[in-house]
Amino acid sequence: MQKTTQQIIVGLGERSYAIDIGVGLLSRTPLFNVLPHQILIITNTVVGPLYLDQVRAQLASHHVVVHTIDDGESAKSLANYGAIMDTLIQYNFNRDCAVVALGGGVVGDLAGFVAATYQRGVRFYQIPTTLLAQVDSSVGGKTAINHPGGKNMVGAFYQPQGVLIDTNCLASLNDRDYACGLAEVVKYGVIADAEFFAWLEAHVNQLNARDSGALTYAIQRSCEIKADIVAADEREQSVRALLNLGHTFGHAIEAAHYDTWKHGEAVAAGTVIAAKLMHQLGELSAADMARIEALLQAFQLPVRAPKMPLAQWQAFMQRDKKVQDGTVRLVLPTAIGAASLRPMADWQVIGQAITAMSTTND
Ligand SMILES: NC(=O)c1ccc[n+]([C@@H]2O[C@H](COP(=O)([O-])OP(=O)(O)OC[C@H]3O[C@@H](n4cnc5c(N)ncnc54)[C@H](O)[C@@H]3O)[C@@H](O)[C@H]2O)c1
Ligand SMILES: [Zn+2]
Repeated sequence: MQKTTQQIIVGLGERSYAIDIGVGLLSRTPLFNVLPHQILIITNTVVGPLYLDQVRAQLASHHVVVHTIDDGESAKSLANYGAIMDTLIQYNFNRDCAVVALGGGVVGDLAGFVAATYQRGVRFYQIPTTLLAQVDSSVGGKTAINHPGGKNMVGAFYQPQGVLIDTNCLASLNDRDYACGLAEVVKYGVIADAEFFAWLEAHVNQLNARDSGALTYAIQRSCEIKADIVAADEREQSVRALLNLGHTFGHAIEAAHYDTWKHGEAVAAGTVIAAKLMHQLGELSAADMARIEALLQAFQLPVRAPKMPLAQWQAFMQRDKKVQDGTVRLVLPTAIGAASLRPMADWQVIGQAITAMSTTND
């Protein structure tokens, strides 16, 4: 099957960078040769005990400081941002230092914002350890922390200088977080690559078993698709919005049920609603709609949304960043491998799709 080590370049002119993907890269990577002397590693209480020793062993001749944050979304906070700035200043880190994120999307988003702003910007490297971070959040340069008034309210576009993906890290991930990453993988197939979608359908068993060859290819293809989209539209003025397939519906589910629904699960249920809506409009075939639902389900993801009053859906969806002049704009699949961003003003039509794809016994 596929090669077990891959490199992808995110083409952004002089800010271009490489994503290295492979089995066991944490203990045999060239990334560590290019790091400067002063390094701040940001990790959390779950990932640190699992992988920090491996990373530190590669950096024996460097001056390494580690800042460990708590686990969970609430750690992407202004308070932790401030505490990390205190650490950098306390240890006299200068502009030649590097910030390394070792963890999932929470650590990556926070560390990236730290790197973007410490002394107006220092070098930043990502070592993503969740599948979601490996295929999505570590690529593309969106960094952010949360504010009590909203998620990702404070942030910056700031590209890393390198991304190192070791598929071995996924062995310790729990089943739900693993499936959440697969929801984003399916997204890439739906919006951009019918052949990849078919490959996923053919490799469900290998991916559910976390086979490293299949994973390396799935991560590689996902990163390639995201890298191409980011290279074409870094600041989300156009095609980058397509990466939000299923997300406008998903965010409404997350907002209403943040304690029980994970992001990838909400995106999966949201993707099925988007497919249904397009089918209702006569622009997506029943067969393609069924394939999308079946693949998400095969990856152990929920394909029905929780029951919520339409007014609640509408209130949450109207907060979406893509709303323009009061009208929601939804990413909708036109076929497997193609999607478009559509303004949708008719809430009766949207509501029909939501109702059809919500659980009846909630
Ligand atoms: N910047 C972007 O473009 C972008 C895109 C998507 C999501 N995000 C952000 O990413 C975050 C979600 O990322 P996530 O799903 O990785 O969440 P996360 O970072 O909270 O990780 C999920 C869980 O897995 C644990 N974990 C991480 N690596 C592990 C490993 N190898 N083994 C065992 N456990 C491990 C974490 O401690 C956590 O409990 C959100 O804050 C979201 O806003 C950002
Ligand atoms: Zn997402």
